[in-house]
Amino acid sequence: MNLRVFQTSDEAAHAAASAVAAQLSRKPASVLGLPTGRTSLAVYDELVRLHQSGGADFANAHTFNVDEFLGLRSSDTRTYCAFMQKHLFTRINLPAGHIHFLNGAAPDYGRECERFEREITDLGGMDLLLLGIGENAHIGFNEPGRALQTRTHRTKLAPGTRRANVSLFNGRLDRVPREALTMGIGTMLEARAIVLIATGREKARAVASIFDGRLSTERPASVLQLHANLEVILDLSAAQKLPQSGFDAQP
Ligand code: GLP
Repeated sequence: MNLRVFQTSDEAAHAAASAVAAQLSRKPASVLGLPTGRTSLAVYDELVRLHQSGGADFANAHTFNVDEFLGLRSSDTRTYCAFMQKHLFTRINLPAGHIHFLNGAAPDYGRECERFEREITDLGGMDLLLLGIGENAHIGFNEPGRALQTRTHRTKLAPGTRRANVSLFNGRLDRVPREALTMGIGTMLEARAIVLIATGREKARAVASIFDGRLSTERPASVLQLHANLEVILDLSAAQKLPQSGFDAQP
């Protein structure tokens, strides 16, 4: 595992964006896995800047977003799909047909999850999966529980996760969907490389679970320790609770 800690959240976001840009220059037809959430906003802004300055070409790339709310139509502005259109896809040169999303309004969710898995496989698997992390250590919408599901599936959202997403729904908790579709843990672990970004002290406890040498379904991100090519990018606040606390941030 490669750990990089930066003084500020912006520096961490730039490092994550650079990792994506480097992947694209190594392999222009890369298959990328992408997260949503506040942490990803600065990463996507920097990717757009890199794209505009010729440092990130998405023309041949494919993207798979890791999760989507259940029950919202694809035209709904509160979907993660709309979030991605607004913050990244409309600002770069990624062809519309190369954007892969879970449809939270699909008539048959089981089939929808199978389709998503099949599309990843048909494109040769993910080259780079960029992940955020929830305060409860969820990745995608794989929430803590007695078991984790390996493949893409329908899932219930934890109360804290619904609260964390309330700003997308005008502050109305009752409007936040109770369920979602999410890429499975096994699907994630099959990506050839994983980059996880976390910023802010509210993520420190969740981040520590990636480093404590134990696997727990109650801390879903802990499974990332099994991956041979994992990079964790943090700001100082998110690194607060690491066992080796007191290390220096990158210049
Ligand atoms: C959200 C998403 C995740 C995201 C995580 C962190 O609910 N389901 O894909 O990585 O939680 O979000 P944020 O960056 O807003 O803290």
